[in-house]
Amino acid sequence: MSLSGTRIRYGSLAQASHWLTALLVLVAFLVSQGGPPTRVYAPSNAATLQLHESLGFTVLVLLVIRLAWRFFDRIPESPPMPLWMDVAAKITHWALYALLFAVPATAILGAWFGGHPVTVYGLGALGPFFGAWRLGASLAEIHGTLGDVLMWLAGLHAAAAIFHHVFLHDRVLKQMLPGLPNS
Ligand code: HEM
Ligand code: HEM
Repeated sequence: MSLSGTRIRYGSLAQASHWLTALLVLVAFLVSQGGPPTRVYAPSNAATLQLHESLGFTVLVLLVIRLAWRFFDRIPESPPMPLWMDVAAKITHWALYALLFAVPATAILGAWFGGHPVTVYGLGALGPFFGAWRLGASLAEIHGTLGDVLMWLAGLHAAAAIFHHVFLHDRVLKQMLPGLPNS
């Protein structure tokens, strides 16, 4: 199995980052906590918040690596399907990439503009680098909403992949699954 993709399969780096991202997003979502800042930043919640922020930050790092690699990688051609389906799939993929950036970015900026630190990988408090602004609370709220949108869109995307496999019998799901031959 090669690092780069072929005409009919994603390469191992694209596959590994895809499935690791899906897992990290799911766990980050499951451990996310809302409520007023007094609850979110309460000392009793610190470990859960650090876990949430570390997982989410890793999603952002993986996104940068994945998109940089995508520039050099070969992306498989779509199997035969109606044009509207192909266009809908591509729009969904780029919407997912946009959300993978916007969700962590609004969280980090929301925390800093709200006058709160960001805590990742046990490195201690990173920031805030300026005083609290009202913008912080709005960004934190947008972050939570976009996190929900990401989960719904990823769910729809996963359902579409399974639909392709079970009902259309094409290679859409198989080309993203590891352990299959390259051609
Ligand atoms: C893809 C990754 C992420 C997902 C899916 C995600 C999802 C969520 C969701 C759904 C909530 C709202 C929970 C609720 O209101 O019930 C939330 C809250 C929060 N997240 Fe994330 N998050 C991610 C990444 C991050 C990152 C990278 C950080 C910071 C570095 C972060 C910091 C926070 C904070 C501080 C809150 C509480 C916001 C508030 O209500 O004041 N998240 N997250
Ligand atoms: C948070 C969860 C997920 C996110 C953010 C996500 C994101 C993405 C993105 C951005 C792509 C486009 C890859 C590219 O061309 O660069 C993609 C492709 C793909 N994903 Fe996901 N995905 C998630 C979960 C899943 C799940 C659970 C499944 C299967 C059940 C799945 C199946 C696929 C398949 C089969 C492709 C290739 C589609 C094609 O080539 O047309 N994904 N995913």
